[in-house]
Formats: sequence, C-alpha cells, structure tokens
Amino acid sequence: MQDTAELSTSKLGTKKYWDELYALELENFRQNPQDTGDCWFSDSDAEQKMIDFMVDNIGAHRITEDASVVDLGTGNGHLLFELHETEFQGKLVGIDYSEESVRLATSIAEATGVEEFVSFEQADIFSADWSPGKFDIVLDKGTLDAISLSGMKINGELDVVEVYAGVVEKILEKDGIFLITSCNFTQDELVQIIETDKLKMWKTINYPVFQFGGVQGATICSIAFVKQS
Ligand SMILES: C[S@@+](CC[C@H](N)C(=O)[O-])C[C@H]1O[C@@H](n2cnc3c(N)ncnc32)[C@H](O)[C@@H]1O
Repeated sequence: MQDTAELSTSKLGTKKYWDELYALELENFRQNPQDTGDCWFSDSDAEQKMIDFMVDNIGAHRITEDASVVDLGTGNGHLLFELHETEFQGKLVGIDYSEESVRLATSIAEATGVEEFVSFEQADIFSADWSPGKFDIVLDKGTLDAISLSGMKINGELDVVEVYAGVVEKILEKDGIFLITSCNFTQDELVQIIETDKLKMWKTINYPVFQFGGVQGATICSIAFVKQS
C-alpha cells in the first residue's frame, strides 16, 4: 500500500499538482472575487513578516521604495499584491511555471486594477532560456520547498536544489537582497544551500520557537541574503 503522506509530499513537486490547484482557485475567484486563494504559511504570518522586514529595511542595500522585485514561484501573487499596498511602488513581477498560476494572478491584478504595477510571467526558473534581467530584490515563499520535492535533475545530473543559488545569483543586482521563507529546511540547511562566494547571509526574521524533547527549533525560517560585488 502506498504511504499517503509520502504521496502528497511528492505531489507538491509536480507541475500537474500546481496547475490543478490554481485552475480550481481561478474558478473559485471567478465565482467569488473575494476568494483569491490560499496563502502559503499563513499560520506563521510569514507573508506579513516578509513585508514588514522589507519595509523596516528600506534604505539598506538596494531596498528602496522603487526597487524592482521578482517573486519566484508566485502562485496566486498574494505576496506582491500585499507588497504593492506598502511603500514599494517599483516594478513587481511574479514568475511561475504554472500557466494556471499566471492566469489566476493576472485575473486578480486586472480585477483590482493593479496590472500596471504588478505583472506575471510564465517561466520555469531552471530553463536555460529564462533571462528576465536583474532585480533589486528576489523573493521566495515556499518555492524552494516545493522544488526540493520534485527530485528534478538539471542536464540529467545536478540536483535542482544544488543549482538554485545560481539561479538567484543570475537575476539579482549587486548589493541586491534575496529573501526566502522555508518550512522544509532549517536555518543552517538554508544557509548551506544558498550561500556562495557572492551570496552571503545578511539577516533573519524571528518566529516563535517550539521546544520538544529538549530540542529547540522553529517550524519555519526566513533568511535575507545580500549579493556582494
Ligand atoms: C509552495 S507554492 C508557493 C506559492 C507562493 N509563493 C505562496 O507563497 O503562496 C510553490 C510554487 O512554486 C511554483 N514552482 C515550482 N517549481 C517551479 C519552477 N521550476 N519554476 C517556476 N515556478 C515553480 C509552483 O507552481 C508553486 O506556485
């Protein structure tokens, strides 16, 4: 018998899963425009914490009110819509490999009249053809987590997690910030995955800490990295 926990874990790593989810969310949104879909990590208030972090750090590195921002694996685009409600008025771009995500997020942007400021594009971030230019801020909320469940190999050999930092480095301006939130990796693991000669850990966001069997930990972590010149 197949272990259902394992099945649902691996399903999160497939495009089919996301296409079906966002197609359903789009249908729901069409029937009820108040329903813009699920917000990943809402239990931990991660989205608000990421936004507060960026607002609090305006003036540091390339974090400015007109900073260009890209959200990798944007889903329903909620993070960018909320960011647009704050001081951030630069170019906000959401990328997702699911066409249904782009349809859903674009429909929400049009319905709320922000399509001039918040736009969405379909792309697989690991595709060699994908060259969106460079951004001041790169965001990831739950995307590396999903990617790590795909078991995908690049050129048949390199694990996607191993090449992820290179993707971020490619699209980040010098002195730009990469802010990532994960529930699948510990803070130490995330630093291990992301840090390169150029990408260095800068700051972290605090979450409530749990204690179990004498071990302390948080169920989620957010880390900001800065791209050094
Ligand atoms: C866990 S969801 C997070 C969605 C959104 N960031 C949020 O916080 O609600 C992961 C997202 O990554 C997208 N994704 C996974 N692999 C991708 C890839 N190779 N290129 C672009 N998007 C990808 C999925 O379609 C999905 O929308």
